[in-house]
Amino acid sequence: MGTVLQAVPILLLGFLCQQAGAGGRSFAIDLDQNCFQKDGECFRYISGSIHYFRIQPAYWKDRLMKMYMTGLNAVQVYIPWNFHEPLPGVYNFKGDRDLDQFLDLTKAIGLLVILRPGPYICAEWDMGGLPAWLLNKKDISLRTSDPDYLNAVDSWLSVLLPKMRPRLYSNGGNIISVQVENEYGSHLACDHRYMRHLHIKFRLYLGVEVVLFTTDGNSDKELQCGSLEGIYPTVDFGPVPNVTKAFEPLRRIQPNGPLVNSEYYTGWLDYWGDKHSTSSSEAVSQSLLDILKTGANVNMYMLEGGTNFGYWNGADFKKMYKPVTTSYDYDAPLTEAGDPTEKLLALRTVISKFQPVPLGPIPPPTPKYYYGFVTLERVGDLLDLLDVFSPGSPIVTQYPLTFEEVEQYFGFVLYRTRLPWDIPIATPLLSPLNGVHDRAYVMVGGDFYGVLERDRVAEIKVTGSAGDCLDIVVENMGRINFGANFSDFKGLVFNLTLGTDILRDWLIYPLNLDTPIAEGWPQEQNSIEIPAKKSNRGPAFYSGTFRPHAQGDTYIKLPQWTKGQVWINGFNLGRYWPARGPQVTLYVPGSILNAFESNNITVLELEEAPVQSLVLLMDQPIINGTT
Ligand SMILES: *[C@@H]1O[C@H](CO)[C@@H](O)[C@H](O)[C@H]1NC(C)=O
Ligand SMILES: *[C@@H]1O[C@H](CO)[C@@H](O)[C@H](O)[C@H]1NC(C)=O
Ligand SMILES: *[C@@H]1O[C@H](CO)[C@@H](O)[C@H](O)[C@H]1NC(C)=O
Ligand SMILES: *[C@@H]1O[C@H](CO)[C@@H](O)[C@H](O)[C@H]1NC(C)=O
Repeated sequence: MGTVLQAVPILLLGFLCQQAGAGGRSFAIDLDQNCFQKDGECFRYISGSIHYFRIQPAYWKDRLMKMYMTGLNAVQVYIPWNFHEPLPGVYNFKGDRDLDQFLDLTKAIGLLVILRPGPYICAEWDMGGLPAWLLNKKDISLRTSDPDYLNAVDSWLSVLLPKMRPRLYSNGGNIISVQVENEYGSHLACDHRYMRHLHIKFRLYLGVEVVLFTTDGNSDKELQCGSLEGIYPTVDFGPVPNVTKAFEPLRRIQPNGPLVNSEYYTGWLDYWGDKHSTSSSEAVSQSLLDILKTGANVNMYMLEGGTNFGYWNGADFKKMYKPVTTSYDYDAPLTEAGDPTEKLLALRTVISKFQPVPLGPIPPPTPKYYYGFVTLERVGDLLDLLDVFSPGSPIVTQYPLTFEEVEQYFGFVLYRTRLPWDIPIATPLLSPLNGVHDRAYVMVGGDFYGVLERDRVAEIKVTGSAGDCLDIVVENMGRINFGANFSDFKGLVFNLTLGTDILRDWLIYPLNLDTPIAEGWPQEQNSIEIPAKKSNRGPAFYSGTFRPHAQGDTYIKLPQWTKGQVWINGFNLGRYWPARGPQVTLYVPGSILNAFESNNITVLELEEAPVQSLVLLMDQPIINGTT
C-alpha cells in the first residue's frame, strides 16, 4: 500500500502537465500559470451549488437554465449517499433520485460539473449524507478508517463511481473535477489513513487523470487535517473585507496553482427558533468581485437552496441540538422556489465584467398561486390508528430501544408502557440523562400531557391510575450533520423515570406513516371505526381536499396550528412549526398538484390543532416570522 500511496501524487502531477500541452480533451491543473487548464488553455470556473435532492425533478431544467443565464459555466453537485442507499445494498436512482437525468440536463444546458460525491457531504442534510443504518453498529467511528465504516463506503463507491467515470471530461462528459470527502479538516479524527484510502478508491474507479480536490475552512489547522498530498486543496469562505488575506492559508499549503473558493456563501441556513438568516446583496457581490479580480475560481454556495422535504433536514450541535428548518432557502440568489432575486442580478452584473454572460433575459419566476382556505376534518388520533401505521406486532422490550435498533431510521416511533401504580398527584416523568432524541409527545390514558424535548425540557408532570397506558410518540427531528462524533441515535436513547423509578416493559411501535399516505390514506381508506374526537390536543390526523384552478406553485400556511408534518397527494412536504418559527409557510411545488381535480391534504398535528382546522394556500412565502 505504501508504495502506491507515494506514487499517486507524483504520477498525477507529471501526467497532468503533459496532458495539458497535448491539446486533446483535457482538464488539469497548471501550476506555472496558477490556473486550471481546459483543453490546453487557462480556464476559470464561476460555479454555483444546487442540490437536486432538494428540488423536484420537474424543475431541474428551469433552475439549471437560470444558472446558465446568470453567466455561470459550472455547477457544483453534492451526492447524498443516504438518499441513494436507503438500506445496505438497496439502491434508488429513480424519480426524484434520478442522478443520471440531472447530470444529463447539466450537460445538455452547457454547464460543467464539479462533483462532490462524499461519502460525507454535511449540507445540513440528515447525518451529513451518511446512511443512518451505519449506526446499526453502535460504536462505529464515522469518517475514519474503522473497517465497518470503510466496508460500507467501499461498497457504495463501487456502485456510484463507475457510473460517473464515463461522465468525466476527458471521457467526453462534463465533470471537470471531483471532491474527496468534505471539510475533513473540521472533523477532529484527522485520520489521514482514511483519506488515503478514499484517494486510492477514487483513483481506482475514476482513473489517474481527473482532478481530485479537497475543501476546507481557510485556516492552517483545517487545511492540515483536511488536505492530502496528491489531492488539490481548496478553501471555503463567505464575504470578507480582504480576499487576498482569506486565501493566504491556502497559499501557504499550495504555493502554486489555481486559487479556489469551493463554497462562497451567498447566505446561510435557518434553525427552528432562531431568526431567519440573510446576507446583503451588496456584501455578496462585492466579495465576488474581489474574488474574481484575484483570478480565483469560485463556487457560490448556494445558488439555489431548495427544500428539506420529508424528514431530510439535518441539525447542528452548538451548545445544544439545533435542527434545521424545512426551508433551505438560504437567502440564496434563486429563492427556495427558484425565483431570481435582486442578489442574482447583482451577481450577474459582476460576472459580466469577467466573462461573457449569455444574451437574453433570465427565465422569469414560476407563477405562484393563491388557492385559498381549505377546511380539514379530524380523521383520528394517531394512537387510534396503529393498525394503519404499525400493522405488525409491537416489539416487546424491558428497556427502550433506539430507532436504529428497531431499524426505523426516520419519522416517528411510539413507545408504550403502563403506569406501574396509581399516581393521583402530579409526578415527574423524567429523562434524567437528556435521552429524548428529539421530541416526545406524552399521553396518559390517551390524554395529552405535553412535550419532552432534547436539551430543553427533561421533565413533565403526569397523573393517572395503575395500568393506564403511558404513550410516548418520539420524533426524530433530523440527525446532526457536523461535528467530532455525530453518531446521533434517535428515540428514547436512555431510560425514562417516573418519580425516581425506571420505567420498564415497553412495547415499541415503529410508525410507517409515509407508505399508507402515499397510497391514498386516509381519503381512500375503507371506512374504519375511529373513536370520536376527544380533544384537539395530542398527535392526530386531519385531512381535506381542494381543487386548484391552475397547476402551479403555492405555499401552505397553517394558522394557529402548532407543530407537525404535512402531505399533499401523498407527497411529504416536511415539518411545519409556526409556533417556533421563523418558517411559517411551506413551499408546495406545483408539480405535485393536479389542476382542476381534487387534491388531498393530510396533516399530522403533534400538539394542538386550532378549533377551526383551516389551512391556507397562498402565493407568498413567509420564512422570516417571529421566533
Ligand atoms: C459517539 O457517540 C455515541 C453517542 O453519544 C456513542 O454511543 C458512540 O460510542 C460514540 N462513538 C465514538 C467512536 O466515540
Ligand atoms: C489584504 O491582505 C493582504 C495580505 O495580508 C495585504 O498585503 C493587503 O495590504 C491587504 N489589503 C488591504 C486593502 O487591506
Ligand atoms: C436502563 O436501565 C437498566 C437498568 O439500570 C440498564 O440495564 C439499561 O442499560 C438502561 N437502558 C438504557 C437505554 O439506558
Ligand atoms: C385524493 O383522494 C381521493 C379519494 O377521496 C382519491 O380518489 C384521489 O385519487 C386522491 N387524489 C390524489 C391526487 O391522491
